[in-house]
Amino acid sequence: MEIVKVEGLRKSYAAKEVLKGIDFCAEAGDIIGVIGKNGAGKSTFLEILLTLRSYRHGTVHLFGQELNEASEKQRGQIRQQLSAVLQPTQFYRTLKVIELLKLFKVYYKSPLDVEKIMADFKLDDHRKTYFDKLSGGWKQIVSLAIAFLAAPKMLILDEPTTGLDPHMRNMLWTYITDYNKRTGGTVILTTHNMDEVELYCDRVMLLNDGVAEVFDTTGRILESGYKSIHDFYITQVAK
Ligand SMILES: Nc1ncnc2c1ncn2[C@@H]1O[C@H](COP(=O)(O)OP(=O)(O)OP(=O)(O)O)[C@@H](O)[C@H]1O
Ligand SMILES: [Mg+2]
Repeated sequence: MEIVKVEGLRKSYAAKEVLKGIDFCAEAGDIIGVIGKNGAGKSTFLEILLTLRSYRHGTVHLFGQELNEASEKQRGQIRQQLSAVLQPTQFYRTLKVIELLKLFKVYYKSPLDVEKIMADFKLDDHRKTYFDKLSGGWKQIVSLAIAFLAAPKMLILDEPTTGLDPHMRNMLWTYITDYNKRTGGTVILTTHNMDEVELYCDRVMLLNDGVAEVFDTTGRILESGYKSIHDFYITQVAK
């Protein structure tokens, strides 16, 4: 089942065109990495998928509904099926970690168990810490835990592993791949870590100067002669 279909998407900020005609699709159960240089347009693309940014040209279908043609009610229904972690993340500063999770459980009407999520994300030692007082990496972990708490059909993660230590990064990827296998949820993420793309992503979209230069499976990219996805990336962006 097709979850996302994007055709000819263009986006400008004032006179500057940032996305110059993107075609993209994601099926249920895909894990897709969006890569490219700083300023290539990755976050802009993800924010459009999240219905947070407007666009004038092209079409974006989410769960079969074109976003520009959707009513406010339909947009609301689409948003209920999505979850995201964008950077920088800020939550109610004066709530403790456990209070935040409990609040979002009610808000999402989530069937998931807060204590299980606390344990899965190794948050027990921080349950009574105010969000404001957490280190950057732990703030990121709490944001991710809350995103998973929504039990979404699609997860959109903008540099989810930036700032995480190797152990937490590994834990997060285990959680992402497990969520993906268990629920068939789709994951679209950006990262500057090409090893993660090679290890965990089914497909890769390389954005360069607002154009999707390559959109293919990691397997086919590697078969085409690159030693690694890192090698592919360096070769492509140096062109
Ligand atoms: N709100 C905005 N108003 C004007 N220009 C913007 C805005 N947001 C982003 N841009 C510009 O659009 C371009 C793409 O930005 P975007 O944040 O999408 O890039 P990115 O690929 O996510 O980069 P990074 O890897 O550094 O996160 C950049 O040139 C940026 O300066
Ligand atoms: Mg970005």
